[in-house]
Amino acid sequence: MSAKIQAARLEMITDRNLALELVRVTEAAALAASHWMGLGKKNEADGAAVTAMRKAFDTVAISGTVVIGEGEMDEAPMLYIGERVGAGGPAMDIAVDPLEGTTLTAKGGPNAMAVVALAEHGNFLHAPDIYMDKIAVGGGLPDGVVDIDATVEANLRNLAKAKKCEISDLVACMLDRDRHKELIAKTREAGARIVLLSDGDVAGVMATSQPDSGIDIYMGSGGAPEGVLAAAALRCIGGQMQGRLMFEDDSQIARAREMGLIDPHQAFTCEEMAKGDVMFAASGVTTGAMLRGVRRFGHGAITHSVVMRSKSGTVRFIEAHHNFTTKTWVDR
Ligand code: FBP
Repeated sequence: MSAKIQAARLEMITDRNLALELVRVTEAAALAASHWMGLGKKNEADGAAVTAMRKAFDTVAISGTVVIGEGEMDEAPMLYIGERVGAGGPAMDIAVDPLEGTTLTAKGGPNAMAVVALAEHGNFLHAPDIYMDKIAVGGGLPDGVVDIDATVEANLRNLAKAKKCEISDLVACMLDRDRHKELIAKTREAGARIVLLSDGDVAGVMATSQPDSGIDIYMGSGGAPEGVLAAAALRCIGGQMQGRLMFEDDSQIARAREMGLIDPHQAFTCEEMAKGDVMFAASGVTTGAMLRGVRRFGHGAITHSVVMRSKSGTVRFIEAHHNFTTKTWVDR
């Protein structure tokens, strides 16, 4: 076997193992957060997920740098932007949301999950923690079928045409927020039906890529870090997304430039937000469109996760049965 083929094989084995290691990280965060499910304490749920995820990273064979995390160094004790994590290995950038859907978890609502994405250094958009305007559709549609700069009506019309259906057959998804009043009105005026989410727009965007979710398009604003994570997911599972940062003042624009954005006002595509070979893992905390939530019993729990890679396009669901009597190191 030539040295080149051997090196390629070694890289493939490393990548595959790494993708599976990532699931352990999201499983740990989901297990920890699940303790707090429905207890009305979102900060405690978030804190438990962050601590468990941080600890789990210590056993992953990477030299990781957090680029999408829990905030700036002085705001977050763990998983802050720039923090180094991992047990050593290839240099990777990491995007995390240890608990996507803190309020959902506190209220026992659907779609809360622990999320991680990984890519080679420099491949994730360094998005500040501000809002991002987003639009996303699932895979198998013509490129540019929707456009963040087009009207709601035009996007729905083009999407219906591409899907060979009526606009009234389409279901749009967006966060239920006052700032979306006009978007909601325009979507209904155009004739589409709407699913309004109380929280959790990573799951909302991902739902567009799952035919049985019943969601055809995601629109509206949510967190920019969540936008990058959703783009990473769509890179793996298929789909199109565009996102544009929404600045409230000049200091936010200056911060985005400091973080390396040359044109902070541009509309970023999925590929621009999450470039190269991307790995993505998520574990359900509460049951949602794609993942079942953590089910706890006597001395263990069952987690349900998805792990995927953009390079292979494999989408792998993992149901893990954790036994706390033997797995004593897990933050149960
Ligand atoms: P948290 O997990 O931080 O509570 O975020 C939930 C979420 O709904 C995200 O999915 C979304 O991007 C963001 O909040 C929207 O922010 P806002 O609640 O300010 O509209």
